[in-house]
Amino acid sequence: MPPPPPPRPSSRTHSITPSANLPPKPVQPLPPAPPPYARSSIPYAPRNRRTPAASVLVPLSSAEWERYQNYPGGIGSQILKSHNRKRKFRERDDPEDDDRPPFKRAGDVGLVVDHYNARPEVGVVQRNESPIIGLKSFNNWVKSVLITQFAHPILSASLNHAYLQTPNQRGRGERMAGMGGGTRVSGKVLDMGCGKGGDLTKWAKARIKEYIGVDIAAVSIEQARDRYNTLRPPKFKAHFYATDCYSLPLSSSLPQHLVQEVFPPHGPEFDVVSMQFCMHYAFESEEKARTMLNNVSRWLKKGGQFVGTIPNAGQLLDKLDKLPPNSRDLSFGNAVYKIRFEERHHRPIFGHRYWFYLKDAVDDVPEYIVHWDHFVKLAAEYSLHPVYMKEFHEVFEDNQEHKEFGPLLEKMKVVDSNGESQMDEDQWEAANIYIAFAMEKL
Ligand SMILES: C[S@@+](CC[C@H](N)C(=O)[O-])C[C@H]1O[C@@H](n2cnc3c(N)ncnc32)[C@H](O)[C@@H]1O
Repeated sequence: MPPPPPPRPSSRTHSITPSANLPPKPVQPLPPAPPPYARSSIPYAPRNRRTPAASVLVPLSSAEWERYQNYPGGIGSQILKSHNRKRKFRERDDPEDDDRPPFKRAGDVGLVVDHYNARPEVGVVQRNESPIIGLKSFNNWVKSVLITQFAHPILSASLNHAYLQTPNQRGRGERMAGMGGGTRVSGKVLDMGCGKGGDLTKWAKARIKEYIGVDIAAVSIEQARDRYNTLRPPKFKAHFYATDCYSLPLSSSLPQHLVQEVFPPHGPEFDVVSMQFCMHYAFESEEKARTMLNNVSRWLKKGGQFVGTIPNAGQLLDKLDKLPPNSRDLSFGNAVYKIRFEERHHRPIFGHRYWFYLKDAVDDVPEYIVHWDHFVKLAAEYSLHPVYMKEFHEVFEDNQEHKEFGPLLEKMKVVDSNGESQMDEDQWEAANIYIAFAMEKL
C-alpha cells in the first residue's frame, strides 16, 4: 500500500514550471457564460422565396449529416442525434446484435449516456481553444506518464507481438518482412470507458499490437472509430464497441464473433486494462462495481496492469466537511468546476452520489464517491493489487524534472515555451481532485 496522501499542496506546488516553481499566472476573470439557447421571438413569415424551390426537401448529404449532428446547439441537433443513434442501432452489421438486450438507459446511467453522446467531437483547432485547455493538457500529461510508467514495460515485454509495415516499407517487397523489418508492436489493451478515443495516440506511442475500446456512449464510440481512422500507419489493430461495462460481463454483451476474436477461450490475453476518468460511474452500486472489476480481471493476464484515474474521495469529502455547518447548499468549486452533494451525513460505501460540472467538459452529471481503501479491498477479491496511487499534483512533482516527462510538459502544451503554466489557479484546483493508480493482477 502506498503511504496515505500528503496534505493539499501549498501554493508553491501549484507551479507547473518544469525547471522552477514559479507562481501560477494570475487568475483571469472568466468570460460570462453564453445565454441559454432561446427561440427567436420574431415570427417566421417569409414573403419571398429566397432559395430555389428544389432546395426544399432535399435530403441531407452524409457530409451535412456529419456536420449538423455535431453542431452543439439547438433542438435540431438533438433530433438529428437521436435519429442518427437509432439509424446506427439499426445498421449494426452484426446479426447477433438484435438479440442483445438494449442498454439500460433509465436513471443516472441514462443521464451519463445522454451527456456523453451529446458532447460534440471538436477538431484539434477548437480543442486547443477550450477555456480549460491547460487543464485538459495536464490531464493528458498525467495519463501519458501513467501509461508510460506502468503500461509500456508490460506491453513491450508481451510475447504477443508482430512487425507492422508502413505502405512504403511494404512497397520494398517481402525482403523486409522476411527479415522481421518494420515496426515491432506488442501487447493488447482493453480501454473501458474509452470515450471519444482521447488516448489512442498514447497507445500508438506504446506500439501496441491490438486495442479494444468500449464505452456506453454509442456516439462517442463512433467518434473514437473516426479518430482511429485518422491515425498514421503503421496502426495497431482496433475494435470499438458500445456497451455498458458495468452492468453485464463483456463476454455476454459483446457480439460473439468479437468475443471469440479478442477474448480467446484459452485464457486472459490482455496485457493492460485502462479506465481513465470513468471508473467512478461504476460505484453507483456494489453490483456494478463488481461487474466492472470482473470485466477488468477476467481478461487481464497474470502480471498485467490495470491503470486508471478517479476522483479523490478523501479530498471531496474534506471539502464537504468544510462547508459552513448550517449551509443548505452542499456545493463547492470555482469558476471551472462545481461539485454538489445531496446530503451531508449519509455516506454509503456505494451509491454515494454527487453532481459534477466541469467547464467545457461535463454538465452536471451524477458521479459516485470511490473510497480508495474500499476499492483496494474489493479489487483484491478480483486478484488486483495496488502498485501505485498518487494525487495528480504528486504525479507532477515527481515527474516534472524527469528526462522524458519534463520535456513532454511543453510538448503536450501543459506549459508554454517559457515554462509558464497554461492553467490558472482554478484549473489547477480542478485537476487536483483526481488520483492516478495502477494495479497488478496477481
Ligand atoms: C470523462 S469520460 C472519459 C473518456 C476517456 N476515458 C478519456 O479519458 O478521455 C467518461 C466516459 O465513461 C463512459 N462511461 C460511463 N459509464 C459507463 C459504463 N457503464 N460503461 C462504459 N462506459 C461508461 C462515458 O460514456 C464517458 O465516455
